Amino acid sequence: MKILNIIFIIQCLIVLINCQCDAGDNPYPIYNEAPVLVNQTEYAKLYSIGPVGNQVNLIELFGTPYQRGFAQGQLLKSQMHDIYDNFFNYITIMVNDLISKYADYLPKFLIDAIEKGGVKLALDITAELTKKHTPEHFFEEMRGLADGSGVAYNTILQLHMFPELIKAACSMVGAYNQSTLNHGLLQLRALDFGFDPMNPLRLHPTVMIYHPEESDGGHDFAVLSWAGFLGTLTGYSQHVGICEKYWFGYNGTSSREGIPFHFLLREIIQYDTSIDEALDRINNAQRTCAVFMGLGSNSTNTFKAVEYSHQYVRVFDDQTPFPAYAPTPAAHPQITDVVYIDKFVQPSNHQCLASVLQKSWGSIDATALINAAAQLQTGDLHIGLYDFAENQFYVSVGTQEGPLGNPNITIVPAYARQFIQVDLNQFFK
Ligand SMILES: *[C@@H]1O[C@H](CO)[C@@H](O)[C@H](O)[C@H]1NC(C)=O
Ligand SMILES: *[C@@H]1O[C@H](CO)[C@@H](O)[C@H](O)[C@H]1NC(C)=O
Ligand SMILES: *[C@@H]1O[C@H](CO)[C@@H](O)[C@H](O)[C@H]1NC(C)=O
Ligand SMILES: *[C@@H]1O[C@H](CO)[C@@H](O)[C@H](O)[C@H]1NC(C)=O
Ligand SMILES: *[C@@H]1O[C@H](CO)[C@@H](O)[C@H](O)[C@H]1NC(C)=O
Repeated sequence: MKILNIIFIIQCLIVLINCQCDAGDNPYPIYNEAPVLVNQTEYAKLYSIGPVGNQVNLIELFGTPYQRGFAQGQLLKSQMHDIYDNFFNYITIMVNDLISKYADYLPKFLIDAIEKGGVKLALDITAELTKKHTPEHFFEEMRGLADGSGVAYNTILQLHMFPELIKAACSMVGAYNQSTLNHGLLQLRALDFGFDPMNPLRLHPTVMIYHPEESDGGHDFAVLSWAGFLGTLTGYSQHVGICEKYWFGYNGTSSREGIPFHFLLREIIQYDTSIDEALDRINNAQRTCAVFMGLGSNSTNTFKAVEYSHQYVRVFDDQTPFPAYAPTPAAHPQITDVVYIDKFVQPSNHQCLASVLQKSWGSIDATALINAAAQLQTGDLHIGLYDFAENQFYVSVGTQEGPLGNPNITIVPAYARQFIQVDLNQFFK
């Protein structure tokens, strides 16, 4: 063990309270029953998976980008309407709240646009600025979604721009080699969106399993998303897994013109087979928002965290002090074969995540990371956990039950609910 780790543990013993997390372990066993087929069309199969009262869609998509967009639109039509009909009101409240809290939250031209034409105008402008940097297949898939679901194409395009306007907290962990029980790579991605009962994204969580056809290229991949949303915030292939977290405190230059980061992340899981390929893609991209990304690779059995921004890209691993190569804070000790970022603004002085990871070091498995998320209380809207060696995708989602605004529904965040295991050996070619 590193000297720093020992110092950290001694500090913990002295200041016991700081080491302690806010909550205990996740109380549920992992749900591991097979998905149930619900409906199908020529280019998609829709399943449901999960325990009673906590089910998620699982949709397998085949064909060209247009064909699979169309098939998803057909099969998830009413669910897409639930989300799209409520989304813009919700995001308007959220964005206005963020603007009032953070002076430099959005550039002036976007704030002016919101005052003049509402959030939809800001989303239209974002779509315009990112258009020429976005691969054509995303537009084809969105056209398919529109034609299959009956939601207007422009509305679909607008919704797909929202990640460029919001800032989510989130945590990530990559643990591999000596740190894990099976010595393979495990990757945790916890999405903290601010779990609001009125958030329509909680209604229809969807695991999408893509089988890209030859004309499109790439390999099979799985994402955890919402009915009718094609960007990737949480996703995995047998080669590469991704995480993402908003980077508060980035002080470099910014741009609104480039490829939306959630489309870039999907390019990575569809096409890239190693961290180096993903980093090449990141380095060569016209980048917009400043976010932290996490990249895991099966072939090298490693994980790297990335400071991703318009101006520069910096890469961190278990040997590099994070963030910014600055001296490692006591609460963020370097841990061999573990790379992690907690849900707080970085550098974080919260000791929970490091202490949980140190305690389970050498025997980290899916349950240990599920418990880490529960103890840190991270991942309110959803959590994805990828076990590369076994090719398993574990997901947990916040309460799905609707309708929105019904005060009688108790809303429980993803980290406190039962995780669902998706065996991708069954689906990946
Ligand atoms: C299955 O999908 C088709 C095509 O969208 C739809 O017309 C039909 O109503 C669906 N069936 C069920 C049982 O949901
Ligand atoms: C895994 O750990 C062992 C022991 O520390 C080390 O010798 C080996 O190089 C590591 N493997 C990788 C892929 O880093
Ligand atoms: C920006 O942040 C980095 C560390 O993240 C720091 O070294 C640098 O001085 C900062 N620059 C400005 C202009 O604040
Ligand atoms: C991923 O790693 C596992 C174990 O290290 C290996 O069995 C499997 O073939 C790898 N998968 C791919 C697609 O390389
Ligand atoms: C909530 O529960 C109360 C008491 O059971 C009931 O009267 C009320 O109609 C419910 N509200 C909604 C929106 O379902």
